[in-house]
Amino acid sequence: MFQSKRINKMECSPIRKLAEFEAIAKKKGVEVIHLNIGQPDVATPVSMLDAVRKFDGTVLKYADSRGLPSTVDTFIKYYSKIGIDFEARDMVVTNGGSEALLFAFIATCDIGDEIIVPAPYYSNYNSFADIANVKFNPVLSTLEEDYKLPSAADLEKAITDKTKAILFSNPCNPTGAVYTHEELMEVLNLAKKHDLYVISDEVYREYVYDGLKPMSIYDLNYETDRIILIDSLSKRYSACGARVGIIASKNRELMDNVLKLGQSRLSIPTLEQVMASSILEVPEEYIVETQKLYERRRNAVIDALSKVEGVKCSNPRGAFYIMVRLPVKDSDHFAKWILSDFDYEGKTVMVAPAAKFYGIEDYGLNEVRLSYCLDEAVLVNAVNILEKALIEYKKIYE
Ligand SMILES: Cc1ncc(COP(=O)(O)O)c(C=O)c1O
Repeated sequence: MFQSKRINKMECSPIRKLAEFEAIAKKKGVEVIHLNIGQPDVATPVSMLDAVRKFDGTVLKYADSRGLPSTVDTFIKYYSKIGIDFEARDMVVTNGGSEALLFAFIATCDIGDEIIVPAPYYSNYNSFADIANVKFNPVLSTLEEDYKLPSAADLEKAITDKTKAILFSNPCNPTGAVYTHEELMEVLNLAKKHDLYVISDEVYREYVYDGLKPMSIYDLNYETDRIILIDSLSKRYSACGARVGIIASKNRELMDNVLKLGQSRLSIPTLEQVMASSILEVPEEYIVETQKLYERRRNAVIDALSKVEGVKCSNPRGAFYIMVRLPVKDSDHFAKWILSDFDYEGKTVMVAPAAKFYGIEDYGLNEVRLSYCLDEAVLVNAVNILEKALIEYKKIYE
């Protein structure tokens, strides 16, 4: 039976596409350590789980399309605590940051319009762009420069008459880069010059290291109606399965339009919003301790990687990912091989090949993204396995 060109054209997520090779490893009884996906092992705050357990409604009704009033109210208070002044009309609660991104693309771009994005970028952006029929114009950032935001001049070169927005995640998945006020100000000025939206994906906002303070693009107090904020509970509260995110903007016309998209899918799940309504009860220490934990893990993984011959990595300062250049020609092939043909003491590792994070032909072919949201000892062991695998792989293929 025929299928649409658009679905055939859509790529599998590089984060999940190795599932069939993982199945081969598992069939052989090999334990797979997941460095390919940002699924934290940290416990979700008990108060959030309790909020769901205590739910005593008799009917699980649809929620409002904007979000349960108690959830929207909670988010208004959450943002107020971090210095952002939103009202209910400024936001729509979404099915994760994922749906927020899709809504942002659909609301700002017509079919064939373009979005500029520093590369490498979160690879699922590609899927949302495919669904919305939007074209990405990636602008390269490099490992050598710790993936700092490309200059305004470089970003400007990528602007065409179809460009509608500049998109980035800050802290950045997959690079761990944390952009400075100055860099962001340049982007905002550029956006103003060319009348573009700025889509700031801040789902890792609290997880920054080396003494950096969590920040939002709203901290810059810039003319605000061209900014679209993407946010999510997934990583902040280790609640990826809750599927609760937010799209917010001070641009009322835009948000009225975004609400139409919200109405088309009626609402997001009610119980998860009950959970979201309890985030203000999460003790401050939860975030503080989780932040410290990730910082220790980052240090451990960088330390372990620095001892592996031929490997190069940047110095991520936020989120929980690291881009790693491997001494191989084709990281996609290596990532499959390490699952299907290799184990060390009954274990192997799953990594995310980096090419699809670049979206630029022939870039990232020898790089992988590792996620470090696992126990320190597991991470160090995983890097050890990676090292053994690289030696073995070199003997066979190089
Ligand atoms: C940068 C970034 N944005 C958005 C998302 C989407 O997250 P969710 O849909 O779970 O909120 C992710 C998930 O990994 C991400 O890394």
